[in-house]
Amino acid sequence: MTSITSLYQQHKRLATDDPEHFWSQQANKLAWYQKPTSILKKLDDHHYQWFSDGVMNTCYMALDHQIEQGRGNQTALIYDSPVTGQTKKYSYLQLWDQVALFAGVLKANGLEKGDRVVIYMPMIPEAAIAMLAVARLGAVHSVVFGGFSSHELAMRIDDATPKLVISASCGIEINRIIAYKPLLDEALQKASHKVQCSIVYQRARQPCDLVAGRDLDWQQQMLLAEPAACVPVLATDPLYILYTSGTTGKPKGVVRDNGGHAVALNYSMQAVYDTKPGDVFWAASDVGWVVGHSYIVYAPLLAGCTTVLYEGKPVFTPDASAFWRVCAEHKVNVLFAAPTAFRAIRKEDPQALLQTYDLSALKYIFMAGERLDPATYFWVVEKIGKPVIDHWWQTETGWPISANPAGLELMNAKAGSSTVPVPGFKVEILDESGLPVPANQQGYIALQLPLPPGCLSSIWGNDERFVDGYLSTFPGYYASGDGGYIDEDGYLFVMGRTDDVINVAGHRLSTGEMEQIVASHPAVAECCVIGIYEAIKGQQPLAMVLVKNGVDISESQLEAELVAMVRQEIGALACFKKAIIVQRLPKTRSGKILRKLLRQIATGSDYAVPSTIDDPACLPELAELMQQKDLIGTA
Ligand code: COA
Ligand code: AMP
Repeated sequence: MTSITSLYQQHKRLATDDPEHFWSQQANKLAWYQKPTSILKKLDDHHYQWFSDGVMNTCYMALDHQIEQGRGNQTALIYDSPVTGQTKKYSYLQLWDQVALFAGVLKANGLEKGDRVVIYMPMIPEAAIAMLAVARLGAVHSVVFGGFSSHELAMRIDDATPKLVISASCGIEINRIIAYKPLLDEALQKASHKVQCSIVYQRARQPCDLVAGRDLDWQQQMLLAEPAACVPVLATDPLYILYTSGTTGKPKGVVRDNGGHAVALNYSMQAVYDTKPGDVFWAASDVGWVVGHSYIVYAPLLAGCTTVLYEGKPVFTPDASAFWRVCAEHKVNVLFAAPTAFRAIRKEDPQALLQTYDLSALKYIFMAGERLDPATYFWVVEKIGKPVIDHWWQTETGWPISANPAGLELMNAKAGSSTVPVPGFKVEILDESGLPVPANQQGYIALQLPLPPGCLSSIWGNDERFVDGYLSTFPGYYASGDGGYIDEDGYLFVMGRTDDVINVAGHRLSTGEMEQIVASHPAVAECCVIGIYEAIKGQQPLAMVLVKNGVDISESQLEAELVAMVRQEIGALACFKKAIIVQRLPKTRSGKILRKLLRQIATGSDYAVPSTIDDPACLPELAELMQQKDLIGTA
């Protein structure tokens, strides 16, 4: 039996038995303007506040305070961009300078505390600078991943109602340049909400035209700017809104506060990632995702580390050794990436390439974004020979719920498990009726309330969705939307979503949103989109479509048209490439499509035919069709 060791146990017990004491100790490690005296406040059965009377500024803690501690000349950020051939280092002082100046630009353009700013940028340092500058003024950023379409951007603009938008002229992918400006222009035109102005960073590779009277040139504005000071905020004031896919077509804006976020991230850098100031931390993600917010921008800086901001892919930049090159060149101590990245590297077989790099500085590889399948886990362990740590978290939590807590005690890993709950998270497996299930039995993964600091405080502009979506299914718990089990040693195995959210290349997508788009095609009578197995990206969407009577369209033509529509409406990152025509879909007698059954068929799992099904004969028919088309598989 694997032992669960004492330092971890100590933190876990303290965080459970006396959370106020435990988290006030963690809060004391940060530089507050006014330390909180109220640590945890219960507002009602669903809402809690951490550190509600604390006064602070996240940007101050991440930059100014680090400089005050003598880290001015230490490298804060390394920009490594194989797609442009550039590498650039910013010391804490240089980063502070850019952030304070850009905050001056924002201030001069009327940005005030509490105002929202949408940031739609590629992986360039200016994206992090923009985020920190917004935080410096006590305003609220909402970063939209650069791969999203103008439609998705417009939806987020309408929901967040920003005063300003910040963007860049283009993004650079391996094989093409993506002009951001036309997407931004289209989004600004589509959105009902009108912004006061947009600030555009002109990239040398492909500058863009600016609209007079609305668009401002980042570089020109910086020449005129005066540095701006930090604006104090309450710990409970929002730092950012980050949209994530739910089960409906409308993304939800996860709201993160300032205080809990800073405390939790700083704790995680020690307890989970085992870093100390000066360490080099590389989260190979994108600032558009929660991993990028937490572990490219905020956590490494709050902890006095050096962060790597990488503009490239794990493969083809220029080859599959990109990760090893970056780790060796920048002496990365902790690498954090998605399993899909390693599956892509593995496919290219970097055996020879790997041996030419010195990875002696690398201590750990952390993985998240999707389940780390045992085959990938064993492959990375064998190739790299360093601890490989699967850890589970969500946009909503902002930091890991379960992990092998390397900074407390590195436990024996079990392939397929994200090890144990991180102190502060009380993880339980519940059945449909909300009762705990025995060890090794699968169920719904739920987190007992209150959640620790750093987790979402609500959904922007829609607290009802927060309560209904997360807190009402199992009273007293946050319903994670993931299913899995805890084994006899207390190890958590997260097996996948229990809802209609899918994970494609570590990107969270809503099948509901894709269904809306597919259903809007004139030939489609009815449809269902599910996630099916894909060897590199983990999952890919599959649309099953019933065509309207009398419509004559071939499967390949329909598929091509649907692919184009989803690409246009959501973006290329949806990786929507497959649609099949079916004769029937399994439904309950009340007409609800039995998606869970379809998911079971797609993974080749055994399924029980529910008594409520209208037409059981359609199940073997669908299974056969999917078999014929080679759509059934599992990791
Ligand atoms: N801006 C514009 N378009 C983007 C984009 C961006 N920031 N990011 C991705 N896209 C586009 C790609 O160009 C691609 O378009 P295409 O279909 O025309 O080729 C499409 O979206 C799909 O991109 P991606 O999922 O990245 O697939 P890929 O085949 O180019 O690369 C991997 C495959 C596995 C290498 C890549 O998905 C990867 O690195 N994944 C890791 C993801 C990750 O870190 N997630 C964060 C979780 S922690
Ligand atoms: P996101 O909010 O985009 O970070 O996606 C969160 C979802 O990704 C979770 O609800 C899980 O379904 C999945 N996920 C993230 N990390 C893991 C992991 N380590 N193991 C299994 N699933 C994971």
